[in-house]
Amino acid sequence: MQHFEVIGGNRLKGEINISGAKNAALPIMAATILVEGETVLHNVPDLADVRQMQTLLARLGVKSRRDDEGAMHLTVEDEMNAHAEYELVSKMRASVCVMGPLLAKRKRAQVAMPGGCAIGDRPIGLHIQGLRALGADFELVNGDVLLRAKRLTGSDIFLGGPFGSSVTATANVMMAATLAVGRTVITSAACEPELVDLAEYLNACGACISGYGTPEIVIEGVLSLRGTEHRVIPDRIEAGTFLIAGAITNGDLELIGARIEHMRAVVDRLRCVGVIVERGEKGIAVSSSRRLEPVMITTQPYPGFPTDLQAQAMALLCLADGNSVITEKIYPDRFLHVGELNRMGAHLRKEGPTVIIEGIKRLVGAPVMASDLRASAGLILAGLIAKGTTLVHRAYHIDRGYERIEEKLARVGANIRRVDAP
Ligand code: EPZ
Repeated sequence: MQHFEVIGGNRLKGEINISGAKNAALPIMAATILVEGETVLHNVPDLADVRQMQTLLARLGVKSRRDDEGAMHLTVEDEMNAHAEYELVSKMRASVCVMGPLLAKRKRAQVAMPGGCAIGDRPIGLHIQGLRALGADFELVNGDVLLRAKRLTGSDIFLGGPFGSSVTATANVMMAATLAVGRTVITSAACEPELVDLAEYLNACGACISGYGTPEIVIEGVLSLRGTEHRVIPDRIEAGTFLIAGAITNGDLELIGARIEHMRAVVDRLRCVGVIVERGEKGIAVSSSRRLEPVMITTQPYPGFPTDLQAQAMALLCLADGNSVITEKIYPDRFLHVGELNRMGAHLRKEGPTVIIEGIKRLVGAPVMASDLRASAGLILAGLIAKGTTLVHRAYHIDRGYERIEEKLARVGANIRRVDAP
């Protein structure tokens, strides 16, 4: 088991290269099930979740490999299997993205229900509702969703859920609709940049999708799709994590490749905190050299403040000059990091889906436990500024969504290393 050892107190200074977006790469990899011929994807990050998706796709007859330049080549070689089994799906919720492509291309999809995880319940009712609206028959068989359809027919589909839009449900329905007969209109669709990237990949393969990036997406079904070459967008959540790393250490960073237009809500909140964030020559520049102002943050679907940066923002606001409030509207239980930050001397109080953050002068290093990908990142950020040493256990959570985070941080002055512990 590995953990990160972080010794706090260093200001971060320099440039960090931002990797490709995990949450764009995963659905695009799943979408290759739909296409004839080879797809070549550039800027796919080297992450545990990406390797997990390659394993799942291999089981589904999609061969993938990296070439010497790191580009990923994916080709469908066998369409017999349409069953994404529990032992694979339970390891990564994003596996659910194969459901729409399997149904549309192989007329059948058997996908294990993903179950819950550390951030809360992860239902897929909207996915099923959307695919049934395209004409699929649905059955629940031993914890698997079984969907079948000789032919999918375009339809008007409302995809709004109790917590707003759903990113991967929008992905699934949009992918399936590309090969349906006729027009599909998805209303209350998710607008995340990762879905825009997916739609642009599909259109480059010959799909006919418009309105993506808005709450109303229109898909005109086509007969077939052909593989293409595509470059995955930069990861706005990784970039947001490093923006906050620059802010929390009163540092001076430039995030190479980051796209400020994907991060308006995050930039807005950081500027309210008193952090300087500007469009740089090569990406986004962040610097901070003053006490931080307290703010209110509410997580929302894009373009609102992303839930995937909630833990990281909480670490920053522990040191603000006053009381801040964070309300989590997407995953109301996504607060396992609260107890761990309090172990580091933070003054956090959870009141339902809201946490009151009383600003303090200093965090103190401690052994802490990571619970999910983004909470782990928040604990590392807290360790960067805490007095003394912080040990963030269960490093594997971080490796799911960040490419060699300790190397990227150490290169700009952080005192952090990965430790193999018995
Ligand atoms: C995507 O998950 C991301 N994952 C998550 O990132 C991210 O936190 C989430 O969107 C919200 O932005 C990928 O893109 C692979 P949702 P997804 O369906 O699609 C409820 C990370 O750290 N809901 O948009 O699974 C759901 O319970 C991960 O990279 C239903 O009610 O999230 C949640 O409250 C963590 N019914 C809300 O909608 C459904 O059928 C948003 O979920 C589906 C979702």
